[in-house]
Amino acid sequence: MAIQWYPGHMTVARREAAKTMERCDVVVEVLDARTPEASSNPMISELRKERQRPCLKVLNKADLADPSVTQAWVRSYNQEDGVSAVALTCTRPGQAAKIPYLCQPLAPNRTSSLKPLRMLIMGIPNVGKSTLMNALLKRRLAKVGDQPAVTRVQQKNMLNDHMMLIDSPGLLWPKIEDPDVGLMLATINAISAKVIVDEEIADFLLTYLVTHYPTLFTKRYGFSVEGLNELEVLDAIAKKRGCLRKGKGGEFDREKAARILLLEFRNGTLGQISLQNPETANTSE
Ligand code: G4P
Repeated sequence: MAIQWYPGHMTVARREAAKTMERCDVVVEVLDARTPEASSNPMISELRKERQRPCLKVLNKADLADPSVTQAWVRSYNQEDGVSAVALTCTRPGQAAKIPYLCQPLAPNRTSSLKPLRMLIMGIPNVGKSTLMNALLKRRLAKVGDQPAVTRVQQKNMLNDHMMLIDSPGLLWPKIEDPDVGLMLATINAISAKVIVDEEIADFLLTYLVTHYPTLFTKRYGFSVEGLNELEVLDAIAKKRGCLRKGKGGEFDREKAARILLLEFRNGTLGQISLQNPETANTSE
C-alpha cells in the first residue's frame, strides 16, 4: 500500500517553517505519545539541526498511551543532544503550564523582555498543537478539530513579557516511505480518512493489538483471542456488539465492527495503548 499525501499548503508550510525557525529559540515539537516517532516529522529535525535549535519534545495525549512505554520514550529522547522531553495531557488543567519552564533551560540567555524566549510550536496535524496553545494562553485561539491540517495560519502570542509562543501550520512530510508509519498515522487520525479506508486501518490495529495487548479483548469485549485469527477476532467483536449485515442471513458486519474498534482505540475506551516503543522503532535522530 502506497500512501502519498502532499497538499500544496505543506510545501508552503515547510518554507514558512524554515523562515520562522530562524526567529525562534526553542522548537516545541508536539508528538502523539502513542506513536512518538511516526508522528515526528523528519523535516522538523532537519530544519532544527540546520539552524541549531534545541527542542522540547512534548509527548502529548499521554492519557491515551501506555504509561511505561511513554516513560521509556521520554528517557530515550532525553539522551539526545539539545533535546528535552516531557509526557503530558494538555487537555487536563495545568499540565501545559510546565512547558515554558522546561524550554527556558534550553535557551538560558533569553530571559528578558528585550530578549524574550521565543518558542515555536510545531508538529503534524491533530497531535494537539492548538489545544496546547489554548491551554498555555488560557484562551481559545486557533480552531481545534479532529480533522488533520485544521491549523493553517501562523500565529505569534506573548505568554508574558519575556516569553513568546509561535504557532505553525500542521506539517506532515511529503512522502511517507514506510507503510507502517502511514498506517500508524491513520490509526491516530493524523492522516485524512479519505487517504486510507477504515477497514485497512482497523486490520493493522487489530493485528497489533492481538500481538501486543491480547488481554484488552477480554477486558473490553469479554472474549479471549487465544487461538483466533484476525478475522475471527473481528467476528467476535461484531457478535458482542450485535453488528449484523441487513438481509444477509445473520452475516457479521465486519466493517461496522472495524469502525467500533478504531473509534474505541482513538477515544481511549480500549485502554492506554502505545503503537511504537523506542526499542523497536527506527528513530530519526
Ligand atoms: P492540532 O492543532 O495539532 O491539529 O490538534 P488539536 O489541538 O486540534 O487537537 C486534535 C484533537 O486532539 C482534539 O480533539 C483535541 O481535543 C484532542 N487532544 C489534544 N490534546 C489531547 C490530550 O492530551 N489528550 C486527549 N485525549 N486528546 C487531546 P477533538 O475531538 O477534535 O476536539 P474536542 O472535541 O476534544 O474539542
